Amino acid sequence: MTGFYRQGAALVCDGVPLEPLAAAHGTPLYVYSAAMIAARYRAIDDAFAGYPHSIHYALKANSTLAIARLLKSLGSHADANSGGEIDVALRAGFAPSQIVFTGVGKTIAELGHAIDLGVRSINVESAGEIERIETLSRERKVRTKIAIRVNPDVDAKTHPHISTGLKTNKFGIAIDEVRALCAQTRGRPDVEIVGLHVHLGSQITNMEPLTRAARSLVDLARHLALDGTSIEHLDIGGGLGVSYDGSPVPEAADYANAVLPVLRESGLAIVLEPGRQIIAPAGLLLMRVVDVKEQPGSDRLFVVMDAGMTELIRPMLYSAFHRIEPVIRTDAPATSVDIVGPLCESSDTLGKERTVPRPRVGELYAVLDTGAYGSVMASNYNRRMLPAEVMVENGAARLIRRRQTLDDVLTLEI
Ligand SMILES: Cc1ncc(COP(=O)(O)O)c(C=O)c1O
Repeated sequence: MTGFYRQGAALVCDGVPLEPLAAAHGTPLYVYSAAMIAARYRAIDDAFAGYPHSIHYALKANSTLAIARLLKSLGSHADANSGGEIDVALRAGFAPSQIVFTGVGKTIAELGHAIDLGVRSINVESAGEIERIETLSRERKVRTKIAIRVNPDVDAKTHPHISTGLKTNKFGIAIDEVRALCAQTRGRPDVEIVGLHVHLGSQITNMEPLTRAARSLVDLARHLALDGTSIEHLDIGGGLGVSYDGSPVPEAADYANAVLPVLRESGLAIVLEPGRQIIAPAGLLLMRVVDVKEQPGSDRLFVVMDAGMTELIRPMLYSAFHRIEPVIRTDAPATSVDIVGPLCESSDTLGKERTVPRPRVGELYAVLDTGAYGSVMASNYNRRMLPAEVMVENGAARLIRRRQTLDDVLTLEI
C-alpha cells in the first residue's frame, strides 16, 4: 500500500508517522508521498501503453520543484500554464521540447519566451493569438509549432468553476471555426499547426463527455487532413477526477478505455495533461486545533484550526468536499462539528457538520487529498505565511519547501 493509511490509531505516510513530522516542521504543513505520486503516474502510463502517448504533467496542479523533478525522473513531460511554470519546468530539468504551453491569456513576453525556447507546442486559444505568435516568430526568423485549442461545446458535468469546454466558457476556439482558421494558417512560414488540443474541465468523473470530446478531435483531424492540414498529435488535456469522499470513481484504466478506441482511429500520437489524477490523493494538509468553541444560541461546535482558506481554498472556491480526520484517533465521544479556519471571513470553513471524536486544543488533524490545487493556491491574505511542504520518500521525510517568513514577504516592499 502506498500513501496515507492508519497504523493502529495513527495516520502515517508510507509508514512514516505524521505527528512527529508536524512537531518537527510545524503546522500548517503539506505532506506528499513520493511512492504514491510514482504509482499514480505509472497507472496512467500503463493504461495508455501500446499506443504512442506522452504524459505532460499539468504543473498548475502542484509545481513545487521537488514534485516537478520527481515527475521528470519518472519520464513525465510538462504542461505549463504561464511563463512562471515554464521556468519552473526548466529548473526541474524538463527540456523545452518536453513542454506544452497552454493558457487563455498568454502575454507577449510569455509567448516570446516560449518561442525563443522552442517548446513542443503552444496551445493557441484564438485567431489573435496565432497572429501574435506569427509576428513574434517572424521577428525571430523561426517557425513556431502550435496546437489549436478546440472548444467542442461539450458539457464536462463538473463544477461550473472548473468547466472549460462549453461555448459559454472563455477557453479555446469554437469547433465550427477551426477548419476555416486552419485553412488561413496553413502554409504560413512562421507557424506550423502540429496538433489539436481539448481540455473540458477538471474533476471529471463521467467518462461520456471525455469520449465525445475525443470523437470531436478525431473527426476534426480527419477533416483537416482532407483539407490539407496534416497534424502530428491530439492533446486530450487533463481533467480526470479523483474520489474526495472515498466512493469509487473511474481510474486511469477506465479513462483509457473511454478514449483510446476513438483516438486510435486517428493514428496520431496523443498528449495527456493530467494534474489532479496524479497528485491529489498523494498529498495532505496537516493542521492543529487552536480553539474549540460553542456559540451561545447555536447548536454548532466550532473547531478552529491553524489552517484555512489561505492554505487550502478549494472548499471555499468550489464548495469542494475533503475528508478531515484526526491524525491520532482518540476515544473521545463522536461529535458533530464545523471545522473552520482562523481567517476573518465567514466563508473560511473547511468542513461543515463533520463527525469526529470531540477535538481538543493542540490535536493534529489532516485534510485528505489536498496534493492538487492546494499549496499552489495558497496566499498571504491576513499576512499569513505560505506553509512548509515535506515529501516522504524511501521511508524518510525531507523538507521540500521551507515555511515562508515575514522577511521573505517584506523584501518585496519598498
Ligand atoms: C489546459 C489544461 N490542461 C490540464 C489541466 C489539468 O487538469 P486536471 O488537474 O484536472 O487533470 C488543466 C486544469 O484545469 C488545464 O487547464
